[in-house]
Amino acid sequence: QRGERIRLVEAHKIAAQFYIEQLENGSEAETGRKFLAERGFDQAAAQHFSVGYSPQGWDHLTRFLRGKGFSDKELILSGLAQDGRRGPIDRFRGRLMWPIRDISGDVVGFGARKLYESDNGPKYLNTPETGIYKKSQMLYGIDLAKKEIAKTSRAVVVEGYTDVMACHLAGVTIAIATCGTAFGGDHIKILRRLLMDNATAEVIFTFDGDAAGQKAALRAFEDDQKFAAETSIAITPGGMDPCELRLAEGDDAVQKLVETRTPLFEFAIRHSVLRHNLETPAGRAAALDEAAPIVAGIKNIAIQHESAVQLAGILGILDTQFVVKRVAQLA
Ligand code: CTP
Ligand code: MN
Ligand code: MN
Ligand code: MN
Ligand code: MN
Repeated sequence: QRGERIRLVEAHKIAAQFYIEQLENGSEAETGRKFLAERGFDQAAAQHFSVGYSPQGWDHLTRFLRGKGFSDKELILSGLAQDGRRGPIDRFRGRLMWPIRDISGDVVGFGARKLYESDNGPKYLNTPETGIYKKSQMLYGIDLAKKEIAKTSRAVVVEGYTDVMACHLAGVTIAIATCGTAFGGDHIKILRRLLMDNATAEVIFTFDGDAAGQKAALRAFEDDQKFAAETSIAITPGGMDPCELRLAEGDDAVQKLVETRTPLFEFAIRHSVLRHNLETPAGRAAALDEAAPIVAGIKNIAIQHESAVQLAGILGILDTQFVVKRVAQLA
């Protein structure tokens, strides 16, 4: 299988180069170059992230890789090609291409965004599961961010490829993203290794300020206890994502966004509390029922106590000790 890995990685390396060449010189790629420019990414930025373009047409890359000695079987196994009526065809056609590297820097897959309305596929198409690409373990940008993450004991998790680019260009070089999947257990394991279970390590989730982003933030809370690290949430203002924020307000705004984060438990509490009418005793009781287990889930006992006191304040319950006891019972 080691031999196969080497071949598939080699195919991806050649494919990435092929796509870059297409983006830089292909007349058809003008749409892609415009797309990047409109998002605030100049040529240097595109090069730093090795962004490319997959040409329209059925088998440009397939033929190119065949010419380099790859068999049809290898092309299919790599995920770069898929079965067509008359043999393998390119999986990615007419899309902007983001090479996805594993932690050691090998390109093992691609994230591909459509550029034409006539393309009725999904907005983003990703490499399928292959021998070298496991989406539950991929963190886009990890190859660029790993050094700084280890050095600062901090990581920023964003939603998309363009968000990772925007963060890095804004100086937040600890940004990474999952690739078309929710943040989960395998991602935590990988991050944890980098953060070395450092007690002061911090993971900051910067999800889109839209409904999907809010939901993702709350889902992250379910995994919070698996972190030795402290977890925070930074929600972009006005429903923007970090890429849009950088475009609208510049690099400083992206840096500030990361600094003005909210601890995840506080975010979760405020979220559950907001649904109740705190003007009434019944509303306050219902909110307490919902929020107390969240606070009780905080492992560090000193932070748990402090958070219980804080919760009493948020709920407007004057008897702080009542809330503290309630939380302690559930812990
Ligand atoms: N995503 C995906 N498939 C989709 C939509 C999204 O895999 N059909 C993933 C992509 O990794 C994407 C991320 O989810 O980068 C965030 O989704 P979204 O906010 O919709 O994408 P953006 O990156 O903001 O896309 P864009 O700004 O290019 O519209
Ligand atoms: Mn998402
Ligand atoms: Mn979104
Ligand atoms: Mn976006
Ligand atoms: Mn987005």
